[in-house]
Amino acid sequence: MVQKDIPTLRVGLLGFGSMGRTHTWAVRNLPFHYEDLPFRAETVGVCTTSIEKSRRVCAEFGIGAAYDNEDDLIARPDVDIIDVCTPNVFHYGAVKKALAAGKHVLCEKPLAISPKEADELAALADKSGKVCGMVFNNRWLAPVLRAKQLMDEGRVGRVLHFSASYLHNSCMDPSRRAGWKQDKTICGGGVLFDLGAHVIDLMTWFCGPIVGVSGMEQIAYPSHPDANGNDWKTNADEAFYMTCRTASDACGTITVSKITQGANDDLFFEIYGEKGSLRFSLMEPNWLEFYDATAPSSPQGGTRGFTKIECVSRYPNMVFPSPKAPAGWLNGHLESMRAYLSAVAENRPFVPSFSDGAEVQRVMDAAYRSASNGSKLTEVQR
Ligand SMILES: NC(=O)c1ccc[n+]([C@@H]2O[C@H](COP(=O)([O-])OP(=O)(O)OC[C@H]3O[C@@H](n4cnc5c(N)ncnc54)[C@H](O)[C@@H]3O)[C@@H](O)[C@H]2O)c1
Repeated sequence: MVQKDIPTLRVGLLGFGSMGRTHTWAVRNLPFHYEDLPFRAETVGVCTTSIEKSRRVCAEFGIGAAYDNEDDLIARPDVDIIDVCTPNVFHYGAVKKALAAGKHVLCEKPLAISPKEADELAALADKSGKVCGMVFNNRWLAPVLRAKQLMDEGRVGRVLHFSASYLHNSCMDPSRRAGWKQDKTICGGGVLFDLGAHVIDLMTWFCGPIVGVSGMEQIAYPSHPDANGNDWKTNADEAFYMTCRTASDACGTITVSKITQGANDDLFFEIYGEKGSLRFSLMEPNWLEFYDATAPSSPQGGTRGFTKIECVSRYPNMVFPSPKAPAGWLNGHLESMRAYLSAVAENRPFVPSFSDGAEVQRVMDAAYRSASNGSKLTEVQR
């Protein structure tokens, strides 16, 4: 059999926590899931803050080389892509160094911890000619892709109202040790950065730029033990509430929280337009609900009403599991990685881009400014 002439993309991974593991899994498993990939890909090195941990990861997952200094991994001439999966405050420095070294860069959300940093990275990415991308994995869920298609086809029409939330319950146990996501010096922002970044990106993608926000933050469980078991007080929001107006005058609300009892990974949105409406829940990841206001309403209601569209795993070129197999959270990460590596292999721009990451950063910044100013309606600065 003649092997197609496709590039082998070598990934250098920074950070191996939950996202490092997820990205390594995606890079490794893409060939099982998709046919006709325009690349082969391999994670060739991993960097964490501890060389023992990096070595353990290499041994366990068959990765070639372990590092505890990101500069050494970034400097490797055979590395094509730097994949940034470290805590938020470290993104800016790592992305900047990777671009200076001539690498393509994939970056976990949020892009940085301030609009100034994010704008600088977006400008550097544009100038570099390298393929840079954000991991906004929820864009790549099959029902979310279908929702975007319906909107682009004009089936929803002018959006008047949206409502979106992303809810966890992971901050409700005061005996749970605080991690870096509870420490603003490392995360840069609390749940707004962690879950809000996803929701703001989705609503911007669907409804256009958010121009004004009013925000309110909440910390209900300030005291947690730190990594050494000592008393510690969090300074990172555990819940954040926003009202927003878009450039096209759609109005909406965004709620993100880690203090919502009973929630698991509850991403939910509804979008109400003149011609139709959409609803999605990540806890029901096989379905998109669509209301078509142009359907006949008579006799006796005609065919109107919310329809459940079966999106399951219907991705182009996905061969395993079958396109009719039920979907899950990992689908978004797998498809995000496939799309990004395909863009690198074909040397074309990738969306969501660093400019999209910077846009999210500006909205989050306005939301925090509003929250610290009595929830006053605050303009998103561009
Ligand atoms: N897209 C998503 O679904 C999703 C989900 C969770 C987290 N994230 C994002 O991914 C990033 C990582 O989050 P996580 O949950 O994997 O964190 P984590 O705490 O599980 O892992 C962080 C890893 O980074 C390493 N690290 C810390 N500082 C480092 C440095 N300076 N250089 C190299 N390695 C360093 C740690 O040793 C650890 O291996 C964050 O930006 C977070 O916002 C995205």
